[in-house]
Amino acid sequence: MLKPDGRVIMISGANRGIGRAIAIELGRLGYRLSLGARDPDTLDNDAFGEEEDVFTHAYDATRVEDAQNWVQATLDHYGQLDGVVMNAGVLYPVGLMEGAEEALDVMWNVNFKGPLRLARAAMPALKASGQGRVVNVVSLAGKRVLRPESLGYSASKFAALALTHAIRQQGWDDGIRACAVCPGLVTTDMTSGVDAPAGQFKITAGTIAATVAYALALPNEASVAEILVNSRLELPM
Ligand SMILES: NC(=O)c1ccc[n+]([C@@H]2O[C@H](COP(=O)([O-])OP(=O)(O)OC[C@H]3O[C@@H](n4cnc5c(N)ncnc54)[C@H](OP(=O)(O)O)[C@@H]3O)[C@@H](O)[C@H]2O)c1
Repeated sequence: MLKPDGRVIMISGANRGIGRAIAIELGRLGYRLSLGARDPDTLDNDAFGEEEDVFTHAYDATRVEDAQNWVQATLDHYGQLDGVVMNAGVLYPVGLMEGAEEALDVMWNVNFKGPLRLARAAMPALKASGQGRVVNVVSLAGKRVLRPESLGYSASKFAALALTHAIRQQGWDDGIRACAVCPGLVTTDMTSGVDAPAGQFKITAGTIAATVAYALALPNEASVAEILVNSRLELPM
C-alpha cells in the first residue's frame, strides 16, 4: 500500500459530515491536507492535525472559478498534489412528478459539474504525481433508483459515477486511479430527517472515511473502481 507520508490530498466539503470525518482520518494517518469549504471559517483546523499540514481554501462548487483557484492555491502552498476527494454534495427532493427546477440545477451543479471542474483543474498535477488519486464520494443512489422521489439526486450521482470512470480511463497511463465510494445511509446532517428502516442502521461517517483512506492507499497495480457500502439489506422493489 502507498504510505501517506507527505502526500497532498484535497477534500471538498471538509467542514462537516463525511468530508470532516475524511479530513480527520487522513490527518491522523499523516497526509498533508488542502481543505475546501464554502466558508473556510467553518473548518475547525485543530481537529485535522499539525498546523503545517493543514491548508484551507474557499471552494463553492457552484462558482466556476473556484476549482482552478483552489487547485492552484494548493500547488502554490505545497508544490505538489497527489489526490482529490470529491465529497461536497447536496440532496433535494426532486422526483419524477414533483420538485423544483432550481433544486435540480443545484444538485447537477454541486454533485456533477463542480467535481468535473475540479478534475479538469487537478489532472495535470495528479499526472505529475505518478500516483494521483481521485476518490469521488458518490452514493448507492448513483447505482440505482430506489424511489421515484429521488430521481433528481440519483441522476446527479449517476453522472458523478460516469465522471469517476472517465477520470479512470483518461488518467490510467499516467498512474492516476479513480474510485467511486458509494455509501448507503450515513449518519450526517444530510440524512438527519431520514430514519433507517426498523431493525436496520446507518453507517458512521468514520467508516466511510476509513473506506476513502483505503482507496487512496491502493497501489497503481491494484485499482478498485467502485466500492459499494451497504447500510442495510436492500430487497427488490
Ligand atoms: N449522508 C448520506 O447518507 C450519504 C450517503 C451517500 C452519499 N453521500 C454523499 O456524501 C457526500 C457528503 O455528504 P454528507 O452526508 O456529509 O452531507 P452534509 O453533512 O450535508 O455535508 C455536505 C457538505 O457539502 C458541502 N456543500 C454543499 N453545497 C456546496 C457547494 N455549493 N459548494 C461546496 N460545498 C458544498 C457542505 O458545505 P456547507 O457546510 O457550506 O453547506 C458540507 O460540507 C455528498 O456528496 C453526499 O451526496 C451521503
